Amino acid sequence: MAGMRFGKFCVGFLWCAVFLPICPRAEEKAFVKIWPEKPVVEYGGSLVLNCSSSASCKIFTFETSLKQKAAGSGTSWKAISIPAVDKWNATAMCEGQCEGQSLFHTAEIIVYQPPRIVTLDPVPKLEVGNTYKLTCKAFDVAPIRNSTVTFLKGEDALHTETFKSNILHAMNLVATYNYTAQPGDYKEDIVCLATLNMTPEAPLFQKRSSDKPIPSAVTISNFPERVVIELQKSSTGQSWAYNLICRVFRVAPVSNLTVTFVKGGKMLQKYHNYSKPAHENNTFTHPITLQPQDHGQKAACQVTQDFRPDVEPFTAKVELRTTETYRAIVVATSSIALLAGVLVGVLLLRLVCGAPK
Ligand SMILES: *[C@@H]1O[C@H](CO)[C@@H](O)[C@H](O)[C@H]1NC(C)=O
Ligand SMILES: *[C@@H]1O[C@H](CO)[C@@H](O)[C@H](O)[C@H]1NC(C)=O
Ligand SMILES: *[C@@H]1O[C@H](CO)[C@@H](O)[C@H](O)[C@H]1NC(C)=O
Ligand SMILES: *[C@@H]1O[C@H](CO)[C@@H](O)[C@H](O)[C@H]1NC(C)=O
Ligand SMILES: *[C@@H]1O[C@H](CO)[C@@H](O)[C@H](O)[C@H]1NC(C)=O
Ligand SMILES: *[C@@H]1O[C@H](CO)[C@@H](O)[C@H](O)[C@H]1NC(C)=O
Ligand SMILES: *[C@@H]1O[C@H](CO)[C@@H](O)[C@H](O)[C@H]1NC(C)=O
Repeated sequence: MAGMRFGKFCVGFLWCAVFLPICPRAEEKAFVKIWPEKPVVEYGGSLVLNCSSSASCKIFTFETSLKQKAAGSGTSWKAISIPAVDKWNATAMCEGQCEGQSLFHTAEIIVYQPPRIVTLDPVPKLEVGNTYKLTCKAFDVAPIRNSTVTFLKGEDALHTETFKSNILHAMNLVATYNYTAQPGDYKEDIVCLATLNMTPEAPLFQKRSSDKPIPSAVTISNFPERVVIELQKSSTGQSWAYNLICRVFRVAPVSNLTVTFVKGGKMLQKYHNYSKPAHENNTFTHPITLQPQDHGQKAACQVTQDFRPDVEPFTAKVELRTTETYRAIVVATSSIALLAGVLVGVLLLRLVCGAPK
């Protein structure tokens, strides 16, 4: 059984093998087509297009709306070359005569122009917690539906803008983004990246705003505007009891503040976990008991914000002038004056009254 079926198959196969080359190719469908299927070319660039057809057809026109020249032909193909693409919207059309009927194929030529100049509008120094409008421009890009503009902080994308329009000619792209400055931002620049994605027909083009010729990095800085220190007599009224009062004006609201009190070069107190001050202006009070020898020494208040740990602290200084010391000096001077007065008095008395005999 199996042997017989195999025999029949073999005979059939032989018949085919013998007669196939002379059988008419009735099944082959007539076609005319342009290659590449999706012609993509840079504006100003050159392009070769090839129209091929089934054997039963004869290609008689193959043209575009661009300046072209013949680039060879064969029995069932015809090629043209476009030396310089100078239109944003162009089509190629191929027409063939196939057994009395006309067949057409058209292809849209997609023309692109990668971003070359990308700029980020300058922003005044960023203050942590404030919001800024960042504006990025990419000049002369086409087609815009394949373009995106991304704001980057370091390598992280903050925001990406896409463009929906079908406009084919090159245009300037403008993207904006409201950015709230964060603590730690000073470490990384904000740059803008324009992308033209024509893949797989053409490469992926990317251009950063920080590339020359226009550097546009945004840097972050923020400090307290002003730091003031004063020495106040404590309300307890006790002798030598004082308060060092440090006022910090206009701090960044989302950043930890470290306030250190220092006396004569030695640290007294550090408020280092005073996180996220709720107010713009903050007052720190450090009670201190002074000694007579502190009079005339300096005390300081040093302020840092933790998003700039590498920056010198803001420092305000005050000279310690204690009323107790003043009183002590007054007492001391008056005592000396009194003593001197007594001595002078004694001397005068002696002079007037004469030495005892
Ligand atoms: C055009 O296409 C045909 C058929 O695919 C090919 O034989 C021919 O070499 C191509 N010509 C050019 C110039 O690419
Ligand atoms: C491109 O040109 C063709 C004809 O030349 C036109 O029909 C088509 O609307 C154009 N497309 C655009 C997006 O301008
Ligand atoms: C780019 O544009 C082409 C047509 O012009 C489209 O087919 C393709 O999907 C687009 N690619 C992207 C990433 O938008
Ligand atoms: C950005 O902020 C401005 C005002 O500063 C506002 O008019 C605009 O709507 C904001 N844009 C977005 C996308 O939030
Ligand atoms: C602020 O301090 C707190 C507690 O000390 C800490 O958890 C937080 O990470 C700090 N914030 C920043 C921005 O460093
Ligand atoms: C600050 O730190 C001290 C110990 O270092 C801790 O007892 C206190 O709870 C902290 N305060 C805040 C507001 O984190
Ligand atoms: C903080 O201090 C500054 C400078 O003295 C002042 O102009 C501002 O109004 C103060 N802010 C608040 C909320 O009190």
